[in-house]
Amino acid sequence: MTLKGRDFLTLKDYSQEEILYLIDLAAYFKKKKQKGELTDELRGRNVALIFEKTSTRTRCSFETAAHDLGMFTTYLDPSGSQIGKKESIADTAKVLSRIYDGIEYRGFGQEIVECLAENADVPVWNGLTNEYHPTQILADMMTIREHLGSIKGKTLAYMGDARYNMGNSLMIGCSKLGLNFRAVAPEKYFPAEELVSECRKWAEESGGSILLTSDVTEGTKNADVICTDVWVSMGEPDEIWEERINDLTPYRVTMDVMKNAAKGAIFLHCLPSFHDLGTDIGRKIEKKYGISEMEVTDEVFKKYEASVFDEAENRMHTIKAVMAATLKDWEI
Ligand code: CP
Ligand code: NVA
Repeated sequence: MTLKGRDFLTLKDYSQEEILYLIDLAAYFKKKKQKGELTDELRGRNVALIFEKTSTRTRCSFETAAHDLGMFTTYLDPSGSQIGKKESIADTAKVLSRIYDGIEYRGFGQEIVECLAENADVPVWNGLTNEYHPTQILADMMTIREHLGSIKGKTLAYMGDARYNMGNSLMIGCSKLGLNFRAVAPEKYFPAEELVSECRKWAEESGGSILLTSDVTEGTKNADVICTDVWVSMGEPDEIWEERINDLTPYRVTMDVMKNAAKGAIFLHCLPSFHDLGTDIGRKIEKKYGISEMEVTDEVFKKYEASVFDEAENRMHTIKAVMAATLKDWEI
């Protein structure tokens, strides 16, 4: 298996075999790290990390993973570069390719990271766009395998805004890897029809399936994994909160939802999460709308946090695998 020189922009571009290889490589790096064994075989290389949106997990994962591989990083924050403002994406890609061995991009439209990749001579990695969050899905699948023993054949129910980066990417990942994907949401939050029909083809090949339903009981019945995300994503306007709270409150992950899922079901959340009043936004929403928890209750979050924090840790191992595999061939 070689992925050397490839970009990592969306899981659409990767086969089942390639995705599973990245998860295996991540597991290899995780074991090495736990044993304290070095994997710094990319010593002397440099990567640029462009963040036009904020981040905790993705940034820390790219930085730590790069350092563990022996690489140096430059972090470009939302205000600290000329990108898109004083210099085109294409020119930026050409400049950074002369200096760096790889480029990570987190930001807005998928077309931006695609333009970067088209114009760069080095691998470009998508650290989240409005449409996709592919590194997150690798971590989610790795966590499913660790907690449930396997990936293929499992049923994952995604509750909430299923037409944004997380819903889209989970549907792609599930359909490639043979899971049964269920989007549980009001109809207007279903993923776009074009993407659904693309995914249905992959699901047919992999033995997976896709169900879009607004019925919470039907959608979460016997699911092995219940998954959700924030109701308002980065870059969306504050005015949208009221509509989202009204539309998505029936799709909150509650203990009733978890009881309706399969015995031994796990809960996943890419984080950050609004499950209590520990955030500025959470407190503002409580003051304005009188609710203290949003996409998931605090009770569910606390009861199922082991899988959620394993998922967060696995961001680092899987991001390491993506950078490592696209920069060098590995014997594992
Ligand atoms: N899950 C995730 O991407 O987290 P950050 O926004 O903190 O990077
Ligand atoms: N949908 C969320 C994911 C955060 C990791 C967002 O885009 O803000």
